[in-house]
Amino acid sequence: AHILVLNGPNLNLLGTREPGIYGTLTLRQIETMIQDQAAALGHSVECFQSNAEFELIERIHQAPSLDTAFIIINPAAFTHTSVAIRDALLGVGIPFIEVHLSNVHAREPFRQHSYLSDKAEGVIRGLGPAGYRFALEAVHERLSAAAT
Ligand code: DQA
Repeated sequence: AHILVLNGPNLNLLGTREPGIYGTLTLRQIETMIQDQAAALGHSVECFQSNAEFELIERIHQAPSLDTAFIIINPAAFTHTSVAIRDALLGVGIPFIEVHLSNVHAREPFRQHSYLSDKAEGVIRGLGPAGYRFALEAVHERLSAAAT
């Protein structure tokens, strides 16, 4: 199946961005890990990062025409601000998993609220880059169960 992996603002800086919080892997390294895992599981993955809310929204809008079965999204700071990304995900009706590298609940109060979590299939927080791997495993399990 086709899976879309979206990363929001400032995640292009991974590797050098607050490594104590976000680790030292670059986004490219994380995306390579996801691509390899997806290939091994027999899925195709498209990875997209943007610092612009409208670009993320437009990718979400394109997802149905690309036959996207699932979305894995780290909306970064838009998690805490974006009704528009929530509405886009609900608008296309594609199930999604929300991923955060850091444990947002152990951080500032303004990171405690997510505009997506109540609509997500699941949420992974605080497990670093492995969170994307666990999300993809969960997607694989769900798609396999749906196919049988
Ligand atoms: C983040 C957590 C957000 O609060 C923050 O704005 C980010 C990254 C994470 O992956 O831990 O940019 O989504």
